[in-house]
Amino acid sequence: MTQKDDLLEKIKDEILALTDSPLYNERIKNNNFPVIGQGNHSAAIMLIGEAPGKNEAKTGRPFCGTAGKILDELLASTGIKREDVYITNIVKDRPPFNRDPLPEEIAIYGPFLDRQIEIIQPQIIATLGRYAMNYIMEKFGLNNELKPISDNHGKVFPVSAKYGSITIIPLYHPAAAIYNQKLKKTLRIDFAVLNRFKN
Ligand code: URA
Repeated sequence: MTQKDDLLEKIKDEILALTDSPLYNERIKNNNFPVIGQGNHSAAIMLIGEAPGKNEAKTGRPFCGTAGKILDELLASTGIKREDVYITNIVKDRPPFNRDPLPEEIAIYGPFLDRQIEIIQPQIIATLGRYAMNYIMEKFGLNNELKPISDNHGKVFPVSAKYGSITIIPLYHPAAAIYNQKLKKTLRIDFAVLNRFKN
């Protein structure tokens, strides 16, 4: 185990014991797992979604349902391997009925995401959907650039992290393309931007 593995394992243990979370009882009641994250612990690219859905909470793995299939297609279209990136969400437990995460849920899980970023130290953070975009853009001082995702998707924002210069790229959420082929094409074009930063 590397030091990074240990630190990420510690986050997992803390989230497993997070009885303060408003989503903890839901997890236990439904025999669900928290979804911590998956992938390369030294990835150059980190993808951040919103919260686990049903399949993710059953397996503990991010993006393994319908949206995950689209994400896999998008990654394949860029030639980036899923195992080379790190995939996680802001909220680590499934909100009931897949409703949007509440501010108090983002507040309780956000610090774990902050720690994951500092441990993995990605060069690129690609956000999937508006919740991840808002959280990450605010965290990295891009408040003045915060616009609807329809304006910001595919744009490249250079910022300073504690560990150096990095790039934020807001992307639409893959689930938005489930019934919208036009948006899928846009996502494919936006994902191609990631190609410049492959490991
Ligand atoms: N949607 C998300 O935002 N994250 C997942 O892990 C799955 C679906």
